[in-house]
Amino acid sequence: MHKGKGMKFVGDSRISAERKPNIPKDYSEYPGRTEAFWPNFLLKEWLAGSVFLVGFMSLTLAHPSPLEGMADPTNAGYIPLPDWYFLFLYELLKYDFASGPFILLGILVIPGLAFGGLLLAPFLDKGPGRRPHQRPIAVGMMLLGLASVIWLTYESASHVDWAQRAEANKPIPPSEEVEIDKQDPGYAIYESNCMTCHGGDLSGGAAAPPLIGIDRSAEEIAKIAREGIGTMPADQFKGSDEELKKLTDFIVSVNEQAN
Ligand code: HEC
Repeated sequence: MHKGKGMKFVGDSRISAERKPNIPKDYSEYPGRTEAFWPNFLLKEWLAGSVFLVGFMSLTLAHPSPLEGMADPTNAGYIPLPDWYFLFLYELLKYDFASGPFILLGILVIPGLAFGGLLLAPFLDKGPGRRPHQRPIAVGMMLLGLASVIWLTYESASHVDWAQRAEANKPIPPSEEVEIDKQDPGYAIYESNCMTCHGGDLSGGAAAPPLIGIDRSAEEIAKIAREGIGTMPADQFKGSDEELKKLTDFIVSVNEQAN
């Protein structure tokens, strides 16, 4: 018996018998639109996307986002704000119908309806028309949404004094370069009198500003240690004048190093 004779070969259904060249489908019912999605159209999309991406990256490199100062949990006057593109959602929560007992409306139902509607738009509005006046409901809803977002963002932003806010929340410059001599006799005095507020490295704490980068003489610092300043209470320093001299010399020497 010859090998192979009388045997049946079974084809793989995943491989088509004829190889088809990459010809766009017949779009003749859409005049003027005869472009293949892959790769022609996708390549154009990708090109436009790359231009935007590179543009955005250059912008973020040229203008890094401004940072506020270090977070301070003891500052009860600080009002945290979302970034500008979320201000409209934040503003919505100030209205009576979307806050208090109706807070679920404000955080869930209204944004959920708006964004859910956007998601479902292709399924809800299936008309073939491509011009705005052929889909009045979809276009009307979109314009309403757009107008609300712009109005709410404007309302929210116009009630904030941005210059004053930036001034009050300036970043604290890093003070890592300064080497603090913990063997200095002044450091032990600092440790027992000032450290709880001004921090272990004089770098400031939740309750007090840093003591590095201040422009004050030893006499001024001594006066502050005895009498306080602003929100710093008086009599923080308990000890002799001799010790106070060591303490202020130490703080001044750290600052001379920093400048
Ligand atoms: C109870 C917390 C507390 C302690 C303890 C404390 N301070 Fe202060 N200190 C503050 C606060 C708060 C300020 C900011 C005052 C303001 O500007 O209103 C301040 C400010 C200062 C300033 C002015 C800083 C500047 O920017 O010019 C100096 C100097 C100073 N403290 C020195 C000391 C010294 C020295 C000691 C230790 C003897 C000490 N402080 C202990 C809370 C404290």
